[in-house]
Amino acid sequence: MAYYPILFLLFLTLPFSSAKLTLDYYKAKCPDFEKIIKNALELACPGIVSCSDILAQATRDLVKMVGGPYYKVRLGRKDSRDSDAKRVDANLPTTKMTMSQIIDKFTVKNFTIRDMVALTGAHTIGFTHCKEFIDRIYPIIDPTLHPKLAIGLRHICQNYTLDTSMAAFNDVRSPSTFDNAFFKNILKGLGLLTTDYLLSVDPRTRPIVEEYAKDQQAFFVDFAKAMEKVSVLGVKTGNKGEVRNRCDQFNNNIHA
Ligand code: HEM
Repeated sequence: MAYYPILFLLFLTLPFSSAKLTLDYYKAKCPDFEKIIKNALELACPGIVSCSDILAQATRDLVKMVGGPYYKVRLGRKDSRDSDAKRVDANLPTTKMTMSQIIDKFTVKNFTIRDMVALTGAHTIGFTHCKEFIDRIYPIIDPTLHPKLAIGLRHICQNYTLDTSMAAFNDVRSPSTFDNAFFKNILKGLGLLTTDYLLSVDPRTRPIVEEYAKDQQAFFVDFAKAMEKVSVLGVKTGNKGEVRNRCDQFNNNIHA
């Protein structure tokens, strides 16, 4: 599309092309929204519906609402009685990893390379904070990054050390629609993360990226299957967990 570079540059310079994400976004208008949802459920079915089941379904519903595929979410998860942020980090891939390290992160949990590529297609929605890609735009522009995107990102991130909430859309083409644009983008150097770029060049992942870029339905089918797998990964059932009264606390929270 000949007009595409202009459209996307325009997009980058519009005020809504960057986002200020804050922890207290709903503070003024709906400070207790999470508690309200959980309390409504507790009134209807006390002690039955876990927070993890709510989250698993909310994720699926959000994907569907913004245009993505529907998939079934099996229910009956319990919430964990312990939680440690450090364990989360140890399980997540980072933007500094090589493709082999990322593939290992997934295969160790029984996900194929195809599963991994399909799941990373989730970068068709959402945001990335400047610190995650700043080394691609300062001090010099990474030559694998599309130069116009680099300029737009420099603009968005110019004050990121003062305002660490500055973030850019993951998908510059259609940021709020769940579609296969992420794959089209990364083949053109329009991915924000170094690892998005690696997906588009590594011989193990590039053929899958090309397939999804051409065939949205193939991406949707594989994404749905992989998400069904993710949604049951390591779940706790029976007496291995509890149904939390409050989603942000264990039931016997000594700090409550
Ligand atoms: C392949 C390795 C991956 C790496 C290195 C990676 C890294 C990242 C990073 C650094 C961000 C920005 C976070 C922030 O600034 O707040 C991000 C955002 C995001 N990632 Fe990934 N990711 C990967 C795979 C995945 C997978 C498999 C999924 C989903 C199944 C996923 C879904 C998302 C979503 C939805 C966002 C946007 C979050 C938001 O808007 O708050 N990513 N990713």
